[in-house]
Amino acid sequence: MNEDDTIGLEARLPDQEYYRPPPKFVGQANGTDPDIYERFEDFPDGFSEYAELLTWDERWDETFDGSDPPFFEWFVGGSLNASVNCVDRHLEERKNQAALIWEGEGGEARTITYQDLYRQVNEMAAVLREVGVEEDDVVTLHLPMVPALPITMLACARIGAVHSVVFAGFSANALADRLVDADSDVLVSIDGYYRRGEWLDHKAKADEAIDTEETAVETALLWSRHDDLHEGVELTGDDPYVLVDDVLAEKQGAHVEPVARDAEDPLFLMYTSGTTGKPKGCQHRTGGYLAYAAGTSKYVLDIKTTDTYWCAADIGWITGHSYIVYGPLALGTTSVMYEGTPDYPDRSRLWEIAERYDVDIFHTSPTAIRQFMKWGEEHLAGYDFDFRHLTTVGEPIQPEAWQWYYDHVGDEDAVIVDTWWQTETGGHLITNLPALEDMKPGSAGRPCPGIEPALYEDDGTEIEAASGRAGNLVIERPWPGMLQTVYGDDDRFIDEYWRRFSDTDSDDWRDWVYKTGDGAVHGQDGYYRVLGRLDDVMNVSGHRLGTMELESAVAEVEAIAEAAVVAREDRERGHVPDVYVVLRDGVEGSDDVRKQVIASVEDEIGAFARPDRVLFVSALPKTRSGKIMRRVLENISNKEDLGDTTTLRDPSVPDQIREQVQTNG
Ligand code: WT7
Repeated sequence: MNEDDTIGLEARLPDQEYYRPPPKFVGQANGTDPDIYERFEDFPDGFSEYAELLTWDERWDETFDGSDPPFFEWFVGGSLNASVNCVDRHLEERKNQAALIWEGEGGEARTITYQDLYRQVNEMAAVLREVGVEEDDVVTLHLPMVPALPITMLACARIGAVHSVVFAGFSANALADRLVDADSDVLVSIDGYYRRGEWLDHKAKADEAIDTEETAVETALLWSRHDDLHEGVELTGDDPYVLVDDVLAEKQGAHVEPVARDAEDPLFLMYTSGTTGKPKGCQHRTGGYLAYAAGTSKYVLDIKTTDTYWCAADIGWITGHSYIVYGPLALGTTSVMYEGTPDYPDRSRLWEIAERYDVDIFHTSPTAIRQFMKWGEEHLAGYDFDFRHLTTVGEPIQPEAWQWYYDHVGDEDAVIVDTWWQTETGGHLITNLPALEDMKPGSAGRPCPGIEPALYEDDGTEIEAASGRAGNLVIERPWPGMLQTVYGDDDRFIDEYWRRFSDTDSDDWRDWVYKTGDGAVHGQDGYYRVLGRLDDVMNVSGHRLGTMELESAVAEVEAIAEAAVVAREDRERGHVPDVYVVLRDGVEGSDDVRKQVIASVEDEIGAFARPDRVLFVSALPKTRSGKIMRRVLENISNKEDLGDTTTLRDPSVPDQIREQVQTNG
């Protein structure tokens, strides 16, 4: 980490006060025994407590096998099925309890009991079988927030197929890349869905992805959104489509025997952005992942079967996988799912839903909280909701936003857990167990039971614990929720996460250290304050984007000779991408070129990745060896000091850029 950045970051962090969890929360919490931390210090066996929350076909023989680092194994010899754990095993006690409460954007509502879910998952599993999906096949799902999404995920899990869910906002090109990388020949999509009252034709993206030369989709299962306006699609024999409804009609009441999966068999892939242009397929195992998602849902989210729990994220990202689908359903609770945006038809939408279903636990992101703050507390007024527990995830939360959440959403009477984790980690790693620790706005808090974070200098030396100094956040000991590998690319798995701080020659797992890519401070109180990414990954409104992916999208535009993308701090969205562009000789910077750049990003990645500003400059800052110094651009974007520029080939470039940005930004 750059010395100047470190000092700058620390200076901006004022001391914060603590908030006690309300006694009435503590009195009912799942995790009130402080011994939990000590129990989990018994590595690796402590983690078996999480595995005990699940129903196993075959119990494991060995909790952890670290003999081939970093390819760790968990609950070795055990076997289980994730759909059985999330559905079947709840039937005896709560088949008529809602498993999912779904609310469509336009106000349609559907309650899916555990019995309904059982029936629908089985029928969909039969559909998958019917079209030839076999155990270990990768099935790609490109579905919005409709019940078809969790149903298809669980149906895959039932037959031992590996799902790869691609967030619905991703473009056809991004979908195609992920199909190709996963060598996936089955796509599950839907005709369309609603966004702010508008019908989005989602099949168009599937059409385009299928037509992409490199993809080899043999079967495209198409769900129908079904509502008063859309009766469902008619297919005119266009291969490779199959209407889910048609096959489902033949599979009514089907029972599909769940496949016992080895604990180490993969459950799913989740693509995420890294430091190269190519997204990585994080591969998650069945046993360890599910145990970790269930355990953290129990102790961090305090979920009970009697709760109505609402995580207002999208299932298309890891948050939704772990904390809308797998964790909550494994615990047999009621999980709410909402299709639309928080401001449709008006800015009270979420609070109206919270009141209607009497939601107990609510989960959202700092970006959303900043937006609610901006809209004003009047939109919450008059709604009778009463949360006992609030969560935030995805970005560091500013103390002011935390305070607003606490005062206006929590009514000064709920706990807030700030959960730090990543797509790769499967579940929370740093966050307080809410009944055991005081809250501190802006700090994620203490490590979860059994998790051993540390801070390292750039040169790999460990920074003293609780020193209050910033460093590279690493995790020194394996945990069951961690990714198994990068799909199809073990070398990249080692390069991205392990090489930097591990002794990669060693076959002792203790010499292997997981690099998170984040910077953090470990305070004297033992709380971690996560500062943000230190690598070429940015966090836009809680969505992870790779600098290189954005740059290669921009480079598709004919008029552009060279481009660099950096993150600019934004009050509302956390960070936004700024694109610095050098045009080809003879081309003039114009609004038309700007539009082309934005269109290209939407086309290659998706509208959620839109750059905020496109800035025309005559040259990019480069080192003598020709490497672009993005840090210099980042400092320009954020109106900060330039830092050390002695390695620049042409030291006058930053000043030129500053001037050009002022005139065309
Ligand atoms: C990155 C992971 C898994 C959650 C959804 C995002 C940032 C995540 C926090 C937090 C500060 C956070 C980190 C991390 N991040 N949670 N509570 N406080 N930063 O998952 O897309 O894999 O992104 O999000 O920078 O590395 P993701």
